[in-house]
Amino acid sequence: MKVLGIAGSPRRNGNTDLLLAELLKGAADRGAEVETIILNDLKFILCQHCDACHKTGKCKYDDDMQAIYRKLAAADRVVLASPVQFMGVTAQTKAMIDRCQALWARKYVLNLPPLGNKRWRKGFFISVSAQKKADLFQPSLATVKALFATLDISYAGGLFFPGVDEKGDIIKHPGALKQAYFAGQKLVED
Ligand SMILES: Cc1cc2nc3c(=O)[nH]c(=O)nc-3n(C[C@H](O)[C@H](O)[C@H](O)COP(=O)(O)O)c2cc1C
Repeated sequence: MKVLGIAGSPRRNGNTDLLLAELLKGAADRGAEVETIILNDLKFILCQHCDACHKTGKCKYDDDMQAIYRKLAAADRVVLASPVQFMGVTAQTKAMIDRCQALWARKYVLNLPPLGNKRWRKGFFISVSAQKKADLFQPSLATVKALFATLDISYAGGLFFPGVDEKGDIIKHPGALKQAYFAGQKLVED
């Protein structure tokens, strides 16, 4: 069982990073092989909507996204972590999602499995926000669900913590890290 964690925050060891690490610890303690990609450390171009992928099912840009496509294809579970930024996912996260247009083309234009094989995959979303408004996570969740649906990854749930702003605030949030740990265990058991 391979679990791929995708860290979408620009802030290292910030709130979503800590939650992601704890979730992956839970998964690893149940025997899963875990790996984390830090989007902010990677270099890839934004989707140019060139539609080259409509013919090949592949993105023509040979950059760090190519490794992400491979890691997504190898994963049984995908855990995406992004804080709310301007009511959506971070720019780093959205840039990766838009580059998955090549996988959308593979599925909807070429009628191929988006990740190249028919493995049963599950996805999980982690987010935090500074504010405590209602429906704060809905725009991000809609984007992430659209990604998972495109990649034939079934949405297995999420952890959402509002009112978390300063770096490390999540540590003071009662039970948050524990919830992440147990979510990681559950994600690889189901
Ligand atoms: C560019 C930017 C935009 C943000 N936009 C929002 C927002 O729209 N709503 C909100 O509640 N918090 C917003 N925040 C606050 C972050 O969601 C919050 O600080 C969070 O704890 C950061 O998580 P991280 O430590 O994982 O990066 C924003 C932060 C930044 C840097």
